[in-house]
Amino acid sequence: MAEWLGRQNLFDDECVESLPDPAFRAEGRHLVSFSTNNYLSIASSPRMVAAARRGLERYGVGNCESRLLGGNLAVYDELERKLAACKSKDAAVLFATGYLTNIGVLSTIPQTSKYARIYGFSGVREYTYAYFCDELNHVSIREGVRMSGAARATYRHLDLNHLEMLLKKSTATTKIIVTDGVFSQDGDIAPLPDLLQLAERYDATLYVDDAHGTGVLGEHGGGIAEHFGVSSERLIYMGTLSKAYGGIGGFIATETSIAKALRLACSAYGFTSTLPPDQAVALCEAIDMVVDEPERRARLWDNQRYFVERMSELSYPLVSTETPIVPILVGHEDAASALAQALAASNIYVDAVRFPAVPLRKARLRVQLNAGHTHGDIDRLVDALRAHEHHLEAMLAAPVRATEDVANP
Ligand SMILES: Cc1ncc(COP(=O)(O)O)c(C=O)c1O
Repeated sequence: MAEWLGRQNLFDDECVESLPDPAFRAEGRHLVSFSTNNYLSIASSPRMVAAARRGLERYGVGNCESRLLGGNLAVYDELERKLAACKSKDAAVLFATGYLTNIGVLSTIPQTSKYARIYGFSGVREYTYAYFCDELNHVSIREGVRMSGAARATYRHLDLNHLEMLLKKSTATTKIIVTDGVFSQDGDIAPLPDLLQLAERYDATLYVDDAHGTGVLGEHGGGIAEHFGVSSERLIYMGTLSKAYGGIGGFIATETSIAKALRLACSAYGFTSTLPPDQAVALCEAIDMVVDEPERRARLWDNQRYFVERMSELSYPLVSTETPIVPILVGHEDAASALAQALAASNIYVDAVRFPAVPLRKARLRVQLNAGHTHGDIDRLVDALRAHEHHLEAMLAAPVRATEDVANP
């Protein structure tokens, strides 16, 4: 039955024996990963592990409560204060995962005026909401917007003329532009200052998913706004704790009034258990590490520049070269998988990202650089890619096996 799907995992036994930092073990072999979100290589660092251990000993393994119903430890408040500070915002709201943050918050925003009326703010008028989304936004954004039931319009990737045309046409009282900060599969960066200008012009809110920018962009790892040196009350940041911060969880950093409304109205906040307390203790440490161990970010960006420079020797097309996500465009789904398999044979792990994560025939190897890579690791990847360069054309010319007549959804 599953034959048509092909192999989903590069390893025969489907499991790895350790997690990439970025070196890892699988099938008794030592490999290096070029596809981990653990950008700063802190997830298994002694400092982070020691902090988690302190949390574990103090609080135990799980938080079996919602924060609204007796589960609100001071460490969650502390983590929120730290997250708000690193985004230069008044408040932050913590969620169990980044995915849950996007679906919870985006599905809730259009309901907040209803809650305000229920809670006695009788002056609150009937608002109409519309979302304006980049076509390459993360799937959790698309799901959250769909679940909201609000009007939605999609603009072509980074095409601000298209976005402006859609904003101009809209009669909604509340317009919300939603974009990835760093696009997770393409690695390019949303033009935040230009988006903010449009938000000002059309009195819109700008919701930025900074999952891949947090800890990575900006001098202190503050993310996309620090990178561009902008701030605005119109900006709502979403971020994850599962990438550069090396743990799990998601958050919104925003104005106090919006944070309060979300705590009241968002079921993904109030109707589920929050992240385990040892995680919260470890993540407080991670936020400090991102700031006071800047050499990690320096190594990450040095590796990014070195990889891009070395790739200029080869003919592979790169989707973008702006961030630590540097995807190699392959095209055909089977060819991308075959190339990933070939690299794995040389103990190099790179994800082959295929439809439906990216459009059909836009399959790619999503290379993610890491603070823990050495130039030697990068040389090995480039040399292995060079060895397979001439195979790629043959792979691409091979008869098409799958999905030939399927249109992109
Ligand atoms: C842009 C973006 N947003 C949200 C998420 C979801 O984050 P999490 O894995 O923390 O649930 C991801 C994860 O891959 C992502 O890339």
